[in-house]
Amino acid sequence: MTLVAVLSLTAGYVWYLQSRKLKQTRIQKATGIGLTLDTRAASGKAAASDGAAGNALRTSATPRSALTPRPHVSWLDKAIALKHSDLLVLFYSSQTGTANDLADRFAEEFTENYGVHALVIDISEESPTTMTAFRRRQLADSTPKERWVFGYFLSTYGEGEPTDGSVDWFKWHFGDATQYTSKLLKSAEPKDAYASVTYVLFGLGNRTYEHFNAVGRLFDALMARSGATRIGAAGEGDDDKSLEEDYLKWKAGVMPLMAAHYGLAAGDSRDALDARLQPPLSSSSVPPYLAEWDECLDDATAVAFNQKHPYYARITGLALTREALHLELALPPGLSYATGDYVGIWACNPPHAVLALAQALGQETALDQPFELVMDAAHPSASSAPALFPMPCTLRTALAYYVDLHATLKQHQVELLGRYAQDTDERDALFALADHRDAYTRDILTPQRSLTDLLVQYSSVKLPLAVALVHMLPRNQVRYYSISSSALESPQTVALTAVVVRYPMVRIMEGTATSWLQAVHDGMTAQKAAHDPSQSSSSSSLRLNAVSVSRTKRSAALAPPPFHVAMYIRTSHFHLPADLAKPVIMVGPGTGVAPFRGFVRERAYQAQTAQPKSTAPMRLTLFYGCRHPNQDFLFRDEFTALAAQSAAGETGALQFALVTAFSRHDGAPKVYVQDRLRQHGADVYAQLAQQGGHLYVCGDASRMAQDVMKTVVAIYVQYGGMDEDAARLAVRQLKADGRYAEDTW
Ligand SMILES: Cc1cc2nc3c(=O)[nH]c(=O)nc-3n(C[C@H](O)[C@H](O)[C@H](O)COP(=O)(O)OP(=O)(O)OC[C@H]3O[C@@H](n4cnc5c(N)ncnc54)[C@H](O)[C@@H]3O)c2cc1C
Ligand SMILES: NC(=O)c1ccc[n+]([C@@H]2O[C@H](COP(=O)([O-])OP(=O)(O)OC[C@H]3O[C@@H](n4cnc5c(N)ncnc54)[C@H](OP(=O)(O)O)[C@@H]3O)[C@@H](O)[C@H]2O)c1
Ligand SMILES: Cc1cc2nc3c(=O)[nH]c(=O)nc-3n(C[C@H](O)[C@H](O)[C@H](O)COP(=O)(O)O)c2cc1C
Repeated sequence: MTLVAVLSLTAGYVWYLQSRKLKQTRIQKATGIGLTLDTRAASGKAAASDGAAGNALRTSATPRSALTPRPHVSWLDKAIALKHSDLLVLFYSSQTGTANDLADRFAEEFTENYGVHALVIDISEESPTTMTAFRRRQLADSTPKERWVFGYFLSTYGEGEPTDGSVDWFKWHFGDATQYTSKLLKSAEPKDAYASVTYVLFGLGNRTYEHFNAVGRLFDALMARSGATRIGAAGEGDDDKSLEEDYLKWKAGVMPLMAAHYGLAAGDSRDALDARLQPPLSSSSVPPYLAEWDECLDDATAVAFNQKHPYYARITGLALTREALHLELALPPGLSYATGDYVGIWACNPPHAVLALAQALGQETALDQPFELVMDAAHPSASSAPALFPMPCTLRTALAYYVDLHATLKQHQVELLGRYAQDTDERDALFALADHRDAYTRDILTPQRSLTDLLVQYSSVKLPLAVALVHMLPRNQVRYYSISSSALESPQTVALTAVVVRYPMVRIMEGTATSWLQAVHDGMTAQKAAHDPSQSSSSSSLRLNAVSVSRTKRSAALAPPPFHVAMYIRTSHFHLPADLAKPVIMVGPGTGVAPFRGFVRERAYQAQTAQPKSTAPMRLTLFYGCRHPNQDFLFRDEFTALAAQSAAGETGALQFALVTAFSRHDGAPKVYVQDRLRQHGADVYAQLAQQGGHLYVCGDASRMAQDVMKTVVAIYVQYGGMDEDAARLAVRQLKADGRYAEDTW
């Protein structure tokens, strides 16, 4: 074993470079802090990924930590093992990482300011057994006097639903319910386990949804009923407006109260980081993890795939039309989906963005150097340290796969940046931005400026790489797409449809996942063109180089591998009624049409394959809206052809009608889907109120879904002869009966 270097201590992180055959090693630093190095790195699959045959193109990745089975240790065991009488235990439930990020930040800041150790726990690890054991421990005479404060960072989803990872936790508290209903508030049984808990709570939601912050509110009510004591007000973050500001305000109020609870005075954290050093990268060669490919392939059919354990699916189709990307992925035997579910995918950052940040950090020559960051176990934040990514890895891998390079810098991060400015004017300017919300909003939030942008502008900032990785760059998050195929028609192939996100700011901004898919498409096209010169296009072959270099450089001699995507199937509540005779109305402008393509294909398939041929009509009406019939009309040929066949009586039992609304059609007045709904009001009312029909709305949550809901209420007023209150109640009842479903984002 050769330890190459121990380079730096940053906020409790120690930066290691290690040699190929590093074994379990304890290093005594000058500070006397004991450090354990993880050894799994050097051999086995990591080495295989360094250029072994069969090394496929790594198109995306997720943290290894989530993939390697480890013996389960409950949060209570972890907390007890810390042996601290003052402790902060923070639970988060998160779908796309925000609640996790806030819990991490809260833990870190409280620890830095007050020296109280913290644990940050995914709420999926919480269980009645552990909580009951905690209660027993509290009541036992032998337990040392402990001042533990619990914190809850809870996101709400769907229509007042818990996140995927907190479904069991939610059921434990609120019975078999899967989403908010006002009945839950009344019926939830108090939990003795919480009787003497002291806690803080921050709920995350979005006020455009009907059940704003439902999970946080429900849990808070249950805690009050159980006898728990909340410190400060319950925070509520509104993702539609200013979640970050809501958090900062809540945190500023609650932290001093927590300190008072612990009997502590605040420390000064502003200078705490100044002693951190820049960790240079060594020229040593360690076989790094380049992604998770090999490991995932090994157990591809043996496990349940989920957000923490993706399946690497082969791309069987990827088309880029003028309107959208259409991706098809092969599923292995045993992995199934239902029509209307979602597929979650992981993408990676483009090479030019990786290089730009590496340059801004002064690390461009070190991009292919392996590194490892290991938490200093003695530091108070050790227990709350956010999980990073598999290490050792190269900086290129870390920046390409594991972090979000586009993320807009948060206000507190601007302040952190200021601490590393060498130039006093730049330091003052960064502190001014950090201290004044208006200036921050104008210069950073609104123009969506990233870490790279700021490092380029404030060139005297010498940001240690470890600080950038740990404190400045959020983890790359899964992206969800509604499945646009039918599970009946193609059970082993799942399709998704995505509009490539591209919009102007100070410069052209490109969505991470959709641009990456576009690049993969271009790479595949170029690869095909290499075999068929007639398909060649110069721009796509340039793309292939750009995309593939970062991943295949080390194995350039290998045959071109197939293309794959890390993905999992996320179940939804957005499914067609089982009764084929119930009429179905679908409202899906823009990308909101994606699941309806699956719905339409499903019913068409059912009509085709019904044995004996079903004669009962299956009625499907699609209200589709886009800008222009010749520009962004998704599935135009497919839908119009089917509607025409249906009108001609050629689709058997299927009666499919397409109603379109174009908003930017050659100077004609803007028409939206709700305008068309209103025009078809009598029929819509008859289907919903008289024929037991189902209404589905998919797409934009911020305005469209609410406008459609108002229109349906207006239709009930007009055709049902009721006043507005009665109409609202009737529509609410439709929802309660599961006949008005929304899938919005
Ligand atoms: C349940 C669910 C289902 C979904 N289904 C689909 C689907 O079927 N098809 C589909 O295409 N998408 C769907 N989405 C959205 C999808 O998950 C991604 O958010 C989307 O593709 C963008 O991802 P990206 O990585 O390309 O963009 P990102 O890198 O994540 O960038 C997107 C961000 O860019 C910003 N942005 C975008 N446009 C602008 C603008 N004009 N001005 C300013 N800022 C802007 C916004 O902050 C936005 O959040 C769904 C989302 C959810 C939650
Ligand atoms: N560059 C392009 O050609 C292009 C095309 C499609 C999408 N996009 C981008 O792709 C992303 C996803 O877009 P998307 O396809 O989901 O949606 P979208 O294209 O933004 O919108 C789909 C349709 O819904 C309309 N709409 C807007 N507000 C509405 C409301 N309150 N009620 C009902 N309909 C409403 C839009 O009209 P108006 O917008 O005309 O008002 C448009 O006709 C967005 O960022 C979008 O900007 C770009
Ligand atoms: C598909 C979808 C459904 C949502 N449903 C709700 C909801 O019913 N109520 C609510 O308050 N917020 C809702 N939200 C907003 C999220 O709670 C909010 O964006 C939150 O910040 C997400 O946190 P996370 O990143 O930790 O998952 C929804 C968001 C999405 C994308």
